[in-house]
Amino acid sequence: MGFRLHPLFLFFHILFAIVWVGGLFFIGWSAVSAYKHMPYKEQRLLLRRLMKWFHLPLLCAGIGVIVTGILLGTLSGPIRDWKSIWHSTFGHLWATAFIIGALSLTWGAWIGYRHALKLLGNEPLWANADHGAKKPLHKALLRLLLIEAIEPAGILALIIIMVFL
Ligand code: HEM
Repeated sequence: MGFRLHPLFLFFHILFAIVWVGGLFFIGWSAVSAYKHMPYKEQRLLLRRLMKWFHLPLLCAGIGVIVTGILLGTLSGPIRDWKSIWHSTFGHLWATAFIIGALSLTWGAWIGYRHALKLLGNEPLWANADHGAKKPLHKALLRLLLIEAIEPAGILALIIIMVFL
């Protein structure tokens, strides 16, 4: 049974990963680049709406990647008990992937997301930037970028682990 389920789990694993990684790229790179020549007031509204809309689908995709990753390693994979996690290279890589995946998703979905919404909700900061006082907003955006960068860094580590799994 396990053997036949493997391709199915792998299919959904890769599909969810595409949505998770692609969604983050879309917001963090494409949308931000496309909006950056607009007035700050409009950027704030568009990014806020985009982040709110994407939050649940990306969270579900991230959970999907982790759940299918667990199934691929256990139900249709070589991990049968705790011992196979501690005593095999596959087990070590799988456990590391699980921990990094869970931490990256938790960080992005709660800490990064909350920081972004807080900044995007600070209307005077964006309005002031439209009137010339750009420095405080740029400083806050740089801080947000550093906080948000943790999630893609975790994903990069996961992709490297997947190569060796
Ligand atoms: C963004 C994150 C991830 C991406 C892009 C990703 C991508 C992939 C890809 C492309 C494969 C197929 C590799 C192959 O068949 O050679 C794979 C397999 C697998 N992944 Fe992931 N993965 C991610 C996260 C995770 C996480 C968090 C876990 C653990 C909970 C995990 C566990 C596994 C397992 C067990 C396999 C099967 C390996 C095998 O059968 O040899 N993955 N993953």
